[in-house]
Amino acid sequence: MKNYISLADIDNLEDLISEAIQLKKNNNAATLGKGKTLGMLFFNPSLRTRLSTEKAGRLLGMDVMVMNADKDGWALEFEDGAVMDSNKAEHIQEAAGVLSQYCDIIAVRAFPELKDREKDEMELVINSFKKYATVPVVNLESATGHPLQALTDAITISELKKSKNPKVVLTWAPHPKALPQSVPNSFAEFIQKTDAELVIANPEGYDLNPKITGNIKIYHNQEEALKDADFVYVKNWSSYENYGNKPDVSENWTFNGDKLKMTNNAKVMHCLPVRRNVVIADEVLDSEHSVVLQQANNRTFAAQAVLKRLLESL
Ligand code: CP
Repeated sequence: MKNYISLADIDNLEDLISEAIQLKKNNNAATLGKGKTLGMLFFNPSLRTRLSTEKAGRLLGMDVMVMNADKDGWALEFEDGAVMDSNKAEHIQEAAGVLSQYCDIIAVRAFPELKDREKDEMELVINSFKKYATVPVVNLESATGHPLQALTDAITISELKKSKNPKVVLTWAPHPKALPQSVPNSFAEFIQKTDAELVIANPEGYDLNPKITGNIKIYHNQEEALKDADFVYVKNWSSYENYGNKPDVSENWTFNGDKLKMTNNAKVMHCLPVRRNVVIADEVLDSEHSVVLQQANNRTFAAQAVLKRLLESL
């Protein structure tokens, strides 16, 4: 593996899931990263991604440096050929070149602005790091994808599934803010590559990018979609069609105990952070059906498996 920007960087998803589960049982690569440095740059907040990836690096024997790039670094210019006479003090070309001398792997989190769909889809930040860094680059959640989260989710389903082809429902839920589509995009991409039967439930106006959802069945009626679900992945996202906006939804899409009863005794997933009683009701999060903490724990082993592959290719 040369970089971990998207699903396309994985040769064999099933092998990577198995490797992560093996590392969870037995860390068999504790010295692979000795003398190597992981540098992580955050342009946006994080709890799980930051700490689980740092822990993963340390479990592999790496040194880890973390920077809140939005607050502590120079404002970066990402446009090639820019005349840098505004507030941006440093070009990504120098920044990535310098970081490549300090770090053996660079990991970056940069959310979308959700104003201009074409611009967000260019993935300027993560792709500029990839272009100018001379070491592997890891996506810690970019404008359109969160592949470490999606690998975690695939691992969690693999651990918990009771049949070869579980029914997995990715359902939209309400949220007071307009959120990126990164998590549901990557979840849809990854789970399509597994044996699970994936369907998506979202209100009218919230269909994800059709290039990503492909042939996945999309329901605009949540209750219909939930029937026979073995896993329910709850997540909010803003509109793709009416890009970055939050069209009004009249029905109640909060995932509560009554919705849970419509499923096949489903396990309930969320990437966290979750807004209780807006996205998922307390009665569900506090029940044995919720696997959100197991999911968050698996973030470490997903990151460890990815960093291990990158270290092996150095
Ligand atoms: N799920 C996730 O990425 O969590 P953080 O935003 O806290 O990193």
